[in-house]
Amino acid sequence: MSKNDMTRRDAVKVAGAAAVTVAAVRKANASPRIQTVKAANNQVAYAVIGTGGRGQYHIQHFNGLDGGKCLAVCDVDQAALDKAKAMSKDKPQGYKDYREVLARKDVDAVVIATPLYMHYPVTRDALLAGKHVFCEKSLVFTPEEVHALRKLANEKTNLTLQVGLQRRYSKFYQTAKQMIQKGMLGKVTHVYAQWHRQSLGKTWVPPSWRAFRKYSGGLTAELASHQIDIADWMIGAHPEFVTGVGSIDVYKDGRDVFDNIQLIFKYPAGQKLMYSSISTNKHLALFGSQRTEFGEMIMGTEGTIHITVGTDNEPATALWFYEPGPKKAEETKGKEKGKEKAAVANASLLSTGKGSRGLPVLFDSELVQKDDSFLAKELKYAKLWLYKKGVMVPEEDKNPVDVQLESFMECVRTNKKPLADLEIGLEDSTNVILANLAMDEGRRVFMNEIDKMGGGPASQEAKPARKA
Ligand SMILES: NC(=O)c1ccc[n+]([C@@H]2O[C@H](COP(=O)([O-])OP(=O)(O)OC[C@H]3O[C@@H](n4cnc5c(N)ncnc54)[C@H](O)[C@@H]3O)[C@@H](O)[C@H]2O)c1
Repeated sequence: MSKNDMTRRDAVKVAGAAAVTVAAVRKANASPRIQTVKAANNQVAYAVIGTGGRGQYHIQHFNGLDGGKCLAVCDVDQAALDKAKAMSKDKPQGYKDYREVLARKDVDAVVIATPLYMHYPVTRDALLAGKHVFCEKSLVFTPEEVHALRKLANEKTNLTLQVGLQRRYSKFYQTAKQMIQKGMLGKVTHVYAQWHRQSLGKTWVPPSWRAFRKYSGGLTAELASHQIDIADWMIGAHPEFVTGVGSIDVYKDGRDVFDNIQLIFKYPAGQKLMYSSISTNKHLALFGSQRTEFGEMIMGTEGTIHITVGTDNEPATALWFYEPGPKKAEETKGKEKGKEKAAVANASLLSTGKGSRGLPVLFDSELVQKDDSFLAKELKYAKLWLYKKGVMVPEEDKNPVDVQLESFMECVRTNKKPLADLEIGLEDSTNVILANLAMDEGRRVFMNEIDKMGGGPASQEAKPARKA
């Protein structure tokens, strides 16, 4: 074993520090009150509006979940509508005009998966009709819509508004956030995120709505929005300004959205998000290059996390690397005396040479508990050992898309605040809108410029405090 390796016991200690997290997140979300919903057995009666790729994906996932009944599906396109009707286990009724769905008194909630330019009109009308809303990312399209939706949703606090940022529902990302809060990465100073593709495929080629600015926010809205949200969450702040370059270099097919973008977001304490989305190469230099296309690297003064969500064929994964070299172990211990951080930054983790192998980020369910049977303990130790050797990887027991949909149903029933709520969605959309402006105008765009755009609040007091 090389001197860069950790012992099995070290791995268990590290895992222990990280794992409190998921349990803590769950506890913080305990349900406050019960509302009655319209379908039988306290099931949420919902409709899906926009039943193309994403709408159908949600219907398939809903089919495997309890807690909801699909009463209606809606799409302006007959083929998409027919597919959705056939796909849902609930035999929903089909509609071409979403307003007819909203007029149904027996529908509690809508899932909106239309193209971006239709998110706001449908969300607005749904809230006005008294429906709970799950809307796909990026929540809104224009500065006017940022302000108008904030105002309207704040008048409808009895209705749930959740955004389709499913990474917020991933155990891996929740655990990474808790590791950061525990000081296991030191101070997070940089995040690198990429979504690279070898080709943009048919959903991006004209006449698809994604190819045109009139309907679409391009790569920034469609791909980067997920990862910019992760940077805000992990850094624990919102950016101060953004700058970037985008161009159409490959797909000269009449589209007017960029086929590659490079962005830098600067946060108030100097932290940066470096973002890249290209369409000519899908290499990913994370996870030992065993994955492709997308992922994030969260870099702190004392460690790094590589992280990504799963695809239909690959599991979500996260690796933790401690920052090597002759660390200020004694210094850290002295300064942080009595704090949990000192216990984490123990000498055996710090004296391991120049590089480090990634350790899997572990959930509480993987950890050896006091009351586990002898056999259960041995199995868990063996599993941890295999993870460390890279023979096995931990897997989420549920796809975050299922978790987010179940969580939406629970929020509707209980009025609990969603993890991906209105402000997270609006902040994310603001970042997207202003990043596109920065590339178009070739300048730094400051995030507070949104306040002066699209009928925004004249004074700062009108705006809720910016909290990540
Ligand atoms: N969270 C994620 O990971 C994720 C993944 C994919 C897509 N999305 C989002 O989901 C949304 C939809 O994307 P998609 O890939 O399904 O696109 P899509 O083009 O496959 O589907 C959109 C559907 O909306 C329909 N539509 C358009 N206008 C409508 C209207 N007025 N009323 C009813 N239906 C209407 C279209 O006919 C089409 O069938 C986008 O905002 C996208 O960013 C999110």
